[in-house]
Amino acid sequence: MTIPLLDGSQKLGETTFDEQNQELIDTFNMFSKACQEGECGDVIFNVLKYLNRYVSEHFSYEEALMQVFKYPRLEAHKDEHARFKEDVEKYSESLAHYESLEDLAIKVYRVFLKWVINHVRKEDKDMIRYVKLRTG
Ligand SMILES: [Fe+2]
Repeated sequence: MTIPLLDGSQKLGETTFDEQNQELIDTFNMFSKACQEGECGDVIFNVLKYLNRYVSEHFSYEEALMQVFKYPRLEAHKDEHARFKEDVEKYSESLAHYESLEDLAIKVYRVFLKWVINHVRKEDKDMIRYVKLRTG
């Protein structure tokens, strides 16, 4: 399953934020393609490395932005970030213990797909809409 590039409605118009979001979609699509070709075990190390950076850099950037604009669903949104961060940490820690990288990659792929569909395409989109309304 390949997720299309972000459309205009999901762009904030702020370079760093939009680039971070685009990088997430690009990484997901690369991972998705590798899995379809039966090669997700080969890229899992790089995917987890990227996701660790995403949950620290992008989440703090996004949470600071929500704070500035007094986003009403800030706490609920942060809880979702915290849960995904826990998943990323859990799978990163287990990397060394997996006999099959492909098994691990398939688990991470399912979590990543859910994240893009349920959080990035819904919660983040709502937040972007809210901020855009206040910045014109
Ligand atoms: Fe978010």
